[in-house]
Amino acid sequence: MFFDFDRKPSDSEDKWKSSFSSFEELKKHLGDVFGSAGSKLGFVFPAGNVEEKEAEGDNAKEKEFAEFIKKIKGFNMKPREIRDFLDRFVIKQSEAKKVLSVAICDHYNHVRRCLLDEESSQIEYNKQNVLLLGPTGVGKTYLIKNIAKLIGVPFVKVDATKFSETGYVGNDVDDMIRDLIKAANGNVKLAQYGIVFIDEIDKIAMSSSFEGRDISGRGVQINLLKLMEESEVNAYAQSDMISQLRVAMSFASGGMEQKQSINTKHILFIASGAFDRLVDIVKTRVGNKSIGFNFKLSPNDKDEAYEYLKKVSTTDFIKYGFEPEFIGRLPVRVACEALNAEDLKNILVSSEGSILKQYVEDFAGYKIKFNADDGALTEIAKLAADEKTGARGLLTILEKLLRDSKFELPSTNIKSIRVTKNFMADPAKALSNLMGKESRPKTMTPAANGVKKTTKKTKKT
Ligand SMILES: Nc1ncnc2c1ncn2[C@@H]1O[C@H](COP(=O)(O)OP(=O)(O)OP(=O)(O)O)[C@@H](O)[C@H]1O
Ligand SMILES: [Mg+2]
Repeated sequence: MFFDFDRKPSDSEDKWKSSFSSFEELKKHLGDVFGSAGSKLGFVFPAGNVEEKEAEGDNAKEKEFAEFIKKIKGFNMKPREIRDFLDRFVIKQSEAKKVLSVAICDHYNHVRRCLLDEESSQIEYNKQNVLLLGPTGVGKTYLIKNIAKLIGVPFVKVDATKFSETGYVGNDVDDMIRDLIKAANGNVKLAQYGIVFIDEIDKIAMSSSFEGRDISGRGVQINLLKLMEESEVNAYAQSDMISQLRVAMSFASGGMEQKQSINTKHILFIASGAFDRLVDIVKTRVGNKSIGFNFKLSPNDKDEAYEYLKKVSTTDFIKYGFEPEFIGRLPVRVACEALNAEDLKNILVSSEGSILKQYVEDFAGYKIKFNADDGALTEIAKLAADEKTGARGLLTILEKLLRDSKFELPSTNIKSIRVTKNFMADPAKALSNLMGKESRPKTMTPAANGVKKTTKKTKKT
């Protein structure tokens, strides 16, 4: 909905419009009507000069965009540089890092060429949207987050399951582009060069039963493929009255003309999912034959699922329930590996984003030094691997292990805590000893008792 103040009012509007002889009057009236509720909704009616504030905002956005364009025009990163950066945060996943580094360099090199030379944007170019496969918690989202941080582009993560074909129930797929605009602080021009990460993409595959939301899944795929290639999306949803009104007011008061639509040509789409059923489909296709490179189908093979997912083909995806034209728009595919206990220990010890660092910071907030010895780290990693939730298992184990310490120690004079294998054997007793008490602290919860007892026999992977 847009207000056109020069438009001849219809009869029904006459009465309404005659009440407001000028734009200033309407603005004042809206301010009175919406009051503080309006500002809570983000619809601000400042007491001062609205035009000046709008202009200031526009100028800041223009400046931010100009700086970004300058940066992309000078984009000269090499795939190895990106890989090296990712190595600092993400453990393992070397194939995914390689593939993503190349795709990102190619994409932003192409964007650079288009920015430097108008003609380049006319040349046919197939965008290298990426599909990441692999189990939960192994770094799929984390890889992309770090890439977006490195390149300095707007980034948004959306769940494929929240979209529906019509947008009546659930969101319209165009909303993911609007979310990207929000991630770019409302800077529509900047959002045109961002990255959209679509999680749980496997959930919009149709199963052969053609029931329930599967039909909708097909519709979502069809809508998505237009976006993934190139389409023009309204920057503001029709239902978003507040944004519509804000744009109209800015325009009517002579502010800069705001961009109303966003083109998705230079937005990179990265989709990801666990694709549980896919392994069986690949297995059936390759049969019990070796799938090349000395691969044998033995239950003791390392990360069997990964070995199969590496071999996935377009026909497997179609069998899984994807439309050929949809999966064709995700031409770059790479599988992520499961993380074993050794990898999880590596994450604790050497990832710059290690959860252990978070614990050090948390305790440091109370001026308590926290550390864990090597034996304890090995044990924590083993327990986390048993959780089968990837690196997320580390947080589960640490939380159980240190719940009471985090609660009790800040209220004591104790200035350091060291987690050892002994501590892990009986965290409640270890904490009592540390606090110099004979008995366990009253608040001790059963969860912290016997973290060790939850240990299942670690399956060799
Ligand atoms: N390979 C890894 N190296 C270092 N940290 C990791 C790795 N994998 C996961 N993590 C840690 O675990 C957290 C969760 O990982 P992430 O969100 O990337 O999982 P995911 O693969 O996207 O899982 P899901 O399929 O459930 O979305 C990350 O924020 C990161 O802290
Ligand atoms: Mg994820």
